[in-house]
Amino acid sequence: MYKKINEKNIKEWWDSASEYYQKEISGDKMVDVNYGPFASSEKKLKLLGNINGKKILELGCGGGQASISLAKRGGLCTGIDISSNQIKAANKNAEKEKVNVNFLQIPFSTIHKLKPEKFDIVLSIMSLQYCINLKKLIKDVKDLMVDNGIFVFSIEHPFYLLIDPNDLKIKESYYNSGLVTKLEKWPDGSTHYFNYYNRKVSDIINLITNSGLKLEKIIEPLEKEDKIWGIGYRRALVNRIAPTIIFKYKK
Ligand SMILES: C[S@@+](CC[C@H](N)C(=O)[O-])C[C@H]1O[C@@H](n2cnc3c(N)ncnc32)[C@H](O)[C@@H]1O
Repeated sequence: MYKKINEKNIKEWWDSASEYYQKEISGDKMVDVNYGPFASSEKKLKLLGNINGKKILELGCGGGQASISLAKRGGLCTGIDISSNQIKAANKNAEKEKVNVNFLQIPFSTIHKLKPEKFDIVLSIMSLQYCINLKKLIKDVKDLMVDNGIFVFSIEHPFYLLIDPNDLKIKESYYNSGLVTKLEKWPDGSTHYFNYYNRKVSDIINLITNSGLKLEKIIEPLEKEDKIWGIGYRRALVNRIAPTIIFKYKK
């Protein structure tokens, strides 16, 4: 088990998970920004405003599907991810879809090196739960945003993660915030430790508010169907708690 995780552990995990993760994700993801399991997409939520000509930074871009969909709408996109295999998949997808996106294999901890560049929109989908130092990342995000810039991110809903999908009982304490390590069995039979950070809603809001960014909206969308992320989710639980929570901030 990883006693203390660092970005090297995270990179190794995502490098080995990338092939399976990309196979599970439908090509449809490249026509819109999909915020997460059972969440509505950007075309419905309209959180990002007009994209055409806007400079967009995506954090934890994975296979680049969201950036590619925004580039198709005229966005000037940069996508960063710690995993070289995820970035390889992203470059392949961009080539297939015939769009230009600047994909960079760098970790969250070094995004300050993108300065003096500034972005109109910073976006992150289901990735910030893996961020070790969220306080530093938020400071760097703010520095990289233009005045009036938009920061939108989604993560797994902290309430959803507390409930056992099989018996719908509370299995964890909401107050156990911090690193969670889970042993996972993969389809090929191998086992891997999966790490993420559980943060209370108040921890997230207070941390970002203290940075000076202004909270505009919190969205807990729930769609009836999810053909993209829906695999492995139990409806009995999904129908009671949205698996995805989205935050929108302004500078
Ligand atoms: C659940 S995936 C989401 C990928 C993509 N946003 C999507 O919607 O499919 C989380 C992504 O975060 C990336 N990630 C995790 N920790 C990171 C870090 N410290 N720096 C940069 N990327 C990171 C992983 O490599 C992975 O691609």
